[in-house]
Amino acid sequence: MPLTTDEAGRPIAARARARDPNPSPQHTHTLSPITPLPILSLSLSLSLSSPSGPTNPSAAAMASDPAPDDAARAAAANGHGNGNGPSPAKRPRAVISAAEIRAEFAHHDAAVARVNNGSFGCCPASVLAAQARWQRLFLAQPDAFYFHGLQQGLLRSRAAVAGLVGAGDVSEVSLVDNATTAAAIVLQHAAWSFAEGHFARGDAVLMLHYAYGAVKKSIHAYVARAGANVVEVPLPFPVASADAIIAEFRAALAIAKEGGRRVRLAVIDHITSMPSVIIPVKELVAICREEGVDKVFVDAAHSIGQVPVDVRDIGADFYTSNLHKWFFCPPAVAFLHTHKDDPIASQLHHPVVSQEYGNGLPMESGWIGTRDYSAQLVVSEAIDFVNRFEGGIEAIRSRNHEKVIEMGRMLAEAWGTFLGSPPELCGSMVMVGMPGCLGVESDDDAMRVRTMLRKDFQVEVPIYYNSRRVEGQEMAKDKSGDPVTGYVRISHQVYNVREDYERLRDAINKLVSEGFTSSKLRPSEKREA
Ligand SMILES: Cc1ncc(COP(=O)(O)O)c(C=O)c1O
Repeated sequence: MPLTTDEAGRPIAARARARDPNPSPQHTHTLSPITPLPILSLSLSLSLSSPSGPTNPSAAAMASDPAPDDAARAAAANGHGNGNGPSPAKRPRAVISAAEIRAEFAHHDAAVARVNNGSFGCCPASVLAAQARWQRLFLAQPDAFYFHGLQQGLLRSRAAVAGLVGAGDVSEVSLVDNATTAAAIVLQHAAWSFAEGHFARGDAVLMLHYAYGAVKKSIHAYVARAGANVVEVPLPFPVASADAIIAEFRAALAIAKEGGRRVRLAVIDHITSMPSVIIPVKELVAICREEGVDKVFVDAAHSIGQVPVDVRDIGADFYTSNLHKWFFCPPAVAFLHTHKDDPIASQLHHPVVSQEYGNGLPMESGWIGTRDYSAQLVVSEAIDFVNRFEGGIEAIRSRNHEKVIEMGRMLAEAWGTFLGSPPELCGSMVMVGMPGCLGVESDDDAMRVRTMLRKDFQVEVPIYYNSRRVEGQEMAKDKSGDPVTGYVRISHQVYNVREDYERLRDAINKLVSEGFTSSKLRPSEKREA
């Protein structure tokens, strides 16, 4: 089989675009495309046609590392840095229609109202098709693929990411599986710094109280075990303003520094997961710099596709975002950004050690044994997809923001509650208080109600249990005067329709009208019933 690619380096077999075989009239899409759009084409070429070539993976990999000029050209061709939108058109292509959007997500379970893009993201059929072509290319001639195609394909994706996020150079971008892996890379380095005596036992590591569970556990597993004193920043929720977050951060940092303690690392979320709030990350990074924090790692698992990302402007030492959550890539692919002039970049290692150990994180991450790299190879196709919407990713995210706020307000109105944060602290996800009479009193209650909504109402939505009172304030109450302890986190993505949120609204209203309380789902109460 001839292994050929198009001018953008994509395998060319079967590139026909998915058409809607059966447009479903009952869905009203909330994102309406208007005018024809161009698509991006990168100039990096990928030749997979020769079965011969370097037999040493390192040689193959190193040969494909770009000159800085190439990287800059690729980045310039691909995006303009801070808005995460691809640059002007090269090839005209019709703007995506509502029917085509439905076709792109026809593999979603039509029975389910999925208002939870945040957890696992989504991937359109055209990107999945491109991924399948890469998988077949690999299986058709694995040796040619590994020795001649893989690194160039990964380089193309890294260059695309560099352009999207305003990286100075493609060498600053590594592709990894997910944000959890990126966190492991940064935290393992910190653990080694304790183990090798560069950090003293008791030096502090700062993290938000609402850091993602897996990242919190990683902080404990790697750095607390190695000797760090872990300090949490207790954030208010519901939250009124970015200033409230900044004030808590300053106070926690002062505690971390007590007695002259060194703060070696601050781990700051860009958008917290549960409850979901946009954190004023640029301001917090600046405070860390003023206060002498050694390094700042921004866990931005949710950022790209939800908020503008300009890694230079944010100014952290390490910045990671998933591409499979809000940027339409298949699971799983994320990037980790470091600065090329920072000596620490050469000290970072992928947690899976392979032949590329010592050749720099981008190279280490690009060859971690035999595995499927296809998710990492279709970043350009995801960019093609977003370019089919007028205004590209900027328009998608601002439309998602408007819609999620509109739907959040509709739910809050119906339930007599409120949003967990002001709109400016929301991207494409918002927290909405549930009626207090549901009696959510623990994380387990929240999980059981979520499971019930999935099984009995075909609604997929995460639920947050708010155990904490805002400092000096009563727990926020609903219009009946009951304390609001449970919140849904709703997402909006291009495939969502108003009916998805109405199903959620009606499910909760039905539970309330039937006198349901979460205690009915508790195992002990169920046994007694
Ligand atoms: C803030 C945050 N960090 C890290 C992660 C982990 O992402 P992944 O499971 O893709 O590694 C998530 C996932 O939702 C998250 O919300």
